[in-house]
Amino acid sequence: MNTDSITVEGRDLPVWPRGTRVTPLDANIQTAAFADAEAINPGLIRYLLDRADREDDVSIPASRLFGGIKIYHVHQWGVPEADLLHARALAFYRQTLQTSEAHVDLCWANVYRTGDCSAPHGHGNTTASVVYMLDLGDEEEGEPFCGRFSFVDPRLDLCCREQPGVMTSPFFPTLDPGNMIIFPGQLVHFVTPYFGARPRITIAWNINNQPGPGSTVQGQRPDA
Ligand SMILES: [Fe+2]
Repeated sequence: MNTDSITVEGRDLPVWPRGTRVTPLDANIQTAAFADAEAINPGLIRYLLDRADREDDVSIPASRLFGGIKIYHVHQWGVPEADLLHARALAFYRQTLQTSEAHVDLCWANVYRTGDCSAPHGHGNTTASVVYMLDLGDEEEGEPFCGRFSFVDPRLDLCCREQPGVMTSPFFPTLDPGNMIIFPGQLVHFVTPYFGARPRITIAWNINNQPGPGSTVQGQRPDA
């Protein structure tokens, strides 16, 4: 098996395309913009919307506060686009943390429908979390922060613009479809309420240097 690329719809797509633009937002937060999103996103969106419609096949949180429908275990879907993104998330982790080791503790897709949001939370037992923006849904006229991923953590200077250590300013990174963000898993983050008609879809990975006991798949906990 070629570990450097994965074939999607007859095209060999590199796990980490040469020239991928990586932007540091903070010492420990980076985004990457992938130019091949058009070859990846449409098929994966169709797959996930089909899965999300089969309610016996997904995890439906007990509250709209918990980040929408969950579809777990990205690497077990048997979808080349998902396999590529899974390998890409691991590669992002390895190069960001300068390590050859990377083990996924838990990974899942989030399908937000209108009225869904994700309450502030961090990820335990997670060195870094990676989130891929598959479809950010519809923009809401007059509401610039509809379905927006944000950090709200007093350990992050970006959130403490008025006084060190005092979280006064949620930090909304610029994220477009085809972007991936990596950040320390314990940083408190959330997703603002989403009001669009088209589902907002992201995929997330919690990653460590060493394999762990594995997270419990609860479905009720908040996740972005
Ligand atoms: Fe999260």
